Amino acid sequence: MNLESILFTQGFGSRRQCRALIGDARVTIDGAVCADADADFAITGDTFRFTVDGVEWPYREHAYLLLNKPVGYECSRDPQHHLSVFSLLPPQFAERGVQCVGRLDQDTTGLLLLSDDGKFVHQFTSPKRKVPKLYVATTRHPLDDAQLIALRDGVLLHGESKPSAALDAEARDTHTLAMSVLEGKYHQVKRMIAAAGNRCEALHRERIGGLVMPATLAPGAWQWLDAAGLDALRSG
Ligand code: URA
Repeated sequence: MNLESILFTQGFGSRRQCRALIGDARVTIDGAVCADADADFAITGDTFRFTVDGVEWPYREHAYLLLNKPVGYECSRDPQHHLSVFSLLPPQFAERGVQCVGRLDQDTTGLLLLSDDGKFVHQFTSPKRKVPKLYVATTRHPLDDAQLIALRDGVLLHGESKPSAALDAEARDTHTLAMSVLEGKYHQVKRMIAAAGNRCEALHRERIGGLVMPATLAPGAWQWLDAAGLDALRSG
């Protein structure tokens, strides 16, 4: 693949802009400036890297990312009332069409997946695809057995005809609820907690499938999701 195409596919702007970056000697391969936009490079596996203005980038046919979403960010490119989660990412990702894989409310924190692989996004957001997601909620009132049983047995949400049940619901302490759900209905966890007779004061997503939020990923930080992470996502 020629260098112009490499930069273009990785979100560095229009083909003209990519050519200009290369021509201005801002791109290096293997530690050396490459100012030839037509220079050809063999890309095999996940090992090809380049730098733009000194920042190293891996070449990825598709981007799979995870973000530790902080409070106060909307999962939209065109947010209404808060900042966009995309403002936490390098602009190259929005440029190459990365989108959120499912959404978290602006006040929900934790594990958020993003990708530009349309098939992957579709598969993971399809209601048919049942992927367990583990949420940890801080509740206003103390948790009791009746609430936990109601969540596990199923609660009827306003406007729904069938009850929604948690795969699992347990109290980590008096006001901390860990709960897994398969679906991703609008405000689902908060509405389920309310329907069980309590109130959600804070919500954090800890796990999707078998993929756990890395302990090292600070709020607001992102990282590439590697093949092992993708496997973990599909397991569990
Ligand atoms: N359930 C909610 O209520 N909010 C979220 O952000 C995610 C799940």
